[in-house]
Amino acid sequence: MSSEPLAAGDVWSQWLLHRRHAGDPHYEQAMRALVDRYIERVLEGAQLTAGQSIADVGTGEGLLALRAIERAGGALRVWLTDISAPLLEHAREQALARGVADRCAFLQAPADRLDGIADASLDAVCTRSVLAYVPDKVAALREFHRVLKPGGRISLAEPVFLDEAVAAQAIRTVIETTAPAALNPMMRLLHRWKAAQYPDTEEKIRASAIASYSERDLPRFAQAAGFADVHLELHIDTYPSIMRSWEVFLESAPHPLAPPLSRIMAEQFSVEERELFERTMRPVIEDPGAVSTERMAYLTARRALA
Ligand SMILES: C[S@@+](CC[C@H](N)C(=O)[O-])C[C@H]1O[C@@H](n2cnc3c(N)ncnc32)[C@H](O)[C@@H]1O
Repeated sequence: MSSEPLAAGDVWSQWLLHRRHAGDPHYEQAMRALVDRYIERVLEGAQLTAGQSIADVGTGEGLLALRAIERAGGALRVWLTDISAPLLEHAREQALARGVADRCAFLQAPADRLDGIADASLDAVCTRSVLAYVPDKVAALREFHRVLKPGGRISLAEPVFLDEAVAAQAIRTVIETTAPAALNPMMRLLHRWKAAQYPDTEEKIRASAIASYSERDLPRFAQAAGFADVHLELHIDTYPSIMRSWEVFLESAPHPLAPPLSRIMAEQFSVEERELFERTMRPVIEDPGAVSTERMAYLTARRALA
C-alpha cells in the first residue's frame, strides 16, 4: 500500500488542493460546504461594509477573500496574503475568473511579517485556520493590530487540535501502563496512527504550533497583542460524518502537516497489522450512523480608537 504521488507545490498547496479530499469530488464538496459555513461566520464577525479595505491572511484558495467581495459589494478591496506561492497563484486565478482581480492585492508573506501592508491601513483582518500553524501567534496578532486602523476589527476562526493531541497522549499512557499480554493489539496501531498526526507527549505538545493552545489561550493572545473588546465563542458541533469511504480515509490527512494514513500504514505497520487495522476501522468509517465532532474557536476583537 502506498499513497499516490501528489502534484507539484508545497505542503500547503498539496494539502489544500489535493490531500484534504484525496481527489474525491463528493468528499471535496462536503468539506467545502463546511468551510463555507466557517467563512460566513468569520465574515459576519468582521462587520464588513462596501468601500472598506481588508486582509485575508493565509488566504489559501482565496475562498474568504472572494466571498468577502461578494458579500460586501464590488467596492471592497482585499489583500490576499499567504506564505505559499502556489496558493497565491491559485487564488489569483480564481479572482481573475470571477472578474474581481482589480479588487485584490496579493502578498507572499508570513502572518507575522505583513511587510508591504501599511500601518493603520485596513478596516478588518480576517483569517480562517491559519494562526493554528503560526508558531508565534501573539506576533501574528500584533502584526494584524499594526495594519488595522484605530477601530478596525479582527475576525478569525481556528480549529482546536489540542484534544486530538491529548487523545494521542492518553493512548500512549495506556500502552505504557498496561502489561503487554493484557494490551489489545489495536491500541499500538491506534497510537502509531495518532502519534504520526498529532504530538503525543507533554513536551511535544508544548513545542507544537497546532496543539500548544486551546480556545482559552486565544483571547489572552489577542489582549497581549493590544486588542480591545475581545470576544471568543467556542463552537462544538456534532454532525453525520462526511467521511464515508475507507479509500478516501486512507489517502487524506486531517491537516497540512499530517501524513495520510496510507503512508503511516506503509511505513509503520506489518502486513498483519494493516489487515487488523482495516478489519477493525473500515466498518467504523463506513458506518452510515458515524458522527464527527468538531471544535472551532471564533474570535473577534477591535483595535482601540486612538
Ligand atoms: C488550513 S489552510 C486555510 C486556508 C484558508 N484560510 C481557508 O480558509 O480555506 C492554512 C493556510 O495557511 C497558510 N499558512 C501556513 N502558515 C502560514 C504562516 N506562517 N503565515 C501565513 N500563512 C500561513 C497556508 O499556506 C494555507 O494557505
